[in-house]
Amino acid sequence: MSKYLVTGGAGYVGSVVAAHLLEAGHQVTVLDDLSTGFREGVPAGAEFVEGRIQEAGKVLDGSFDGVLHFAASSQVGESVADPEKYWRNNVAGSLELISAMRAAGVRKLVFSSTAATYGEPEAVPIAETARTAPTNTYGATKLAVDHLITSEAVAHGLAAVSLRYFNVAGAYGTYGERHDPESHLIPLVFQAALGQRPHIAVYGDDYPTPDGTCIRDYIHVADLAEAHLLALDAAKPGEHLICNLGNGSGFSVHEVIESVKRVTGREIPVQVSGRRAGDPAVLVASAARAHEALGWTPRRPNLDDIVADAWKFTLAKNGL
Ligand SMILES: NC(=O)c1ccc[n+]([C@@H]2O[C@H](COP(=O)([O-])OP(=O)(O)OC[C@H]3O[C@@H](n4cnc5c(N)ncnc54)[C@H](O)[C@@H]3O)[C@@H](O)[C@H]2O)c1
Repeated sequence: MSKYLVTGGAGYVGSVVAAHLLEAGHQVTVLDDLSTGFREGVPAGAEFVEGRIQEAGKVLDGSFDGVLHFAASSQVGESVADPEKYWRNNVAGSLELISAMRAAGVRKLVFSSTAATYGEPEAVPIAETARTAPTNTYGATKLAVDHLITSEAVAHGLAAVSLRYFNVAGAYGTYGERHDPESHLIPLVFQAALGQRPHIAVYGDDYPTPDGTCIRDYIHVADLAEAHLLALDAAKPGEHLICNLGNGSGFSVHEVIESVKRVTGREIPVQVSGRRAGDPAVLVASAARAHEALGWTPRRPNLDDIVADAWKFTLAKNGL
């Protein structure tokens, strides 16, 4: 049994990972300022500290075996409109957290990085050796934190793993996605299915893909959580391992809408409009390194299964 600090454990991914850590018999403290997370998202059994990562020094001490760092601002559009917020929260916040870890002698870190660190891909599937050229401030701040972690591992022996998520989806029991504003496709399609928005907007159907809509790599949040537990075991002092997490096969916007129709049995009004600037046609991960280095294989790759779990959560959240 180990003891972990989970920053951002009241949010979507952090709450699912915290639940998995508890189920594996670990002790969990969640540090979250509830800026985008929810108190009820913190799993029962975890200690909850309401606070900012900038104050992690007040929480961390030598009794912790590691930190899983999810806390961040993560809206791409907002990051372009308000870059200072992103550099301050994501980069300066992570710097404070990492300094507090060193002061407390906590020497293991798993960090939520993102596919947005790569930007427009030169080739797909995207491997970790691909060029990193983020096209928005959010991706740039996450890449900066990855560099910070690498230098901390080299200089001070931190054992670190960055997991670069592609599109996280699905739910794990009572833990699911509720971003506000919502920007992720599956919950947006659910809103259209429930009549909470008039239609789902499809931005461009003339991409060079089989059905003309963009292709993304959807990964079940429970598969993602399992990778975090494996990353804690794989982390080695002085090394910073970076692994993509994706299914390795993508689904088009059109395929996602069809899946939601099958799972919910509801009609989905669709409105096709022009392409959005900066949307690459295909973003799919090569997860070969996660497979080799962590021994990780996604166990829930089927899109309908991912959508069905998310739909169950959405119905419950809406009292249906
Ligand atoms: N959801 C995805 O598809 C996806 C994809 C790639 C990467 N990520 C990364 O995964 C992580 C989790 O994403 P999510 O979708 O669960 O987001 P989320 O917004 O649901 O969770 C983030 C949590 O961090 C908390 N937080 C933010 N700033 C904080 C601070 N300074 N101090 C303390 N708490 C703070 C928020 O209150 C929230 O509970 C983020 O780092 C995000 O960048 C997510």
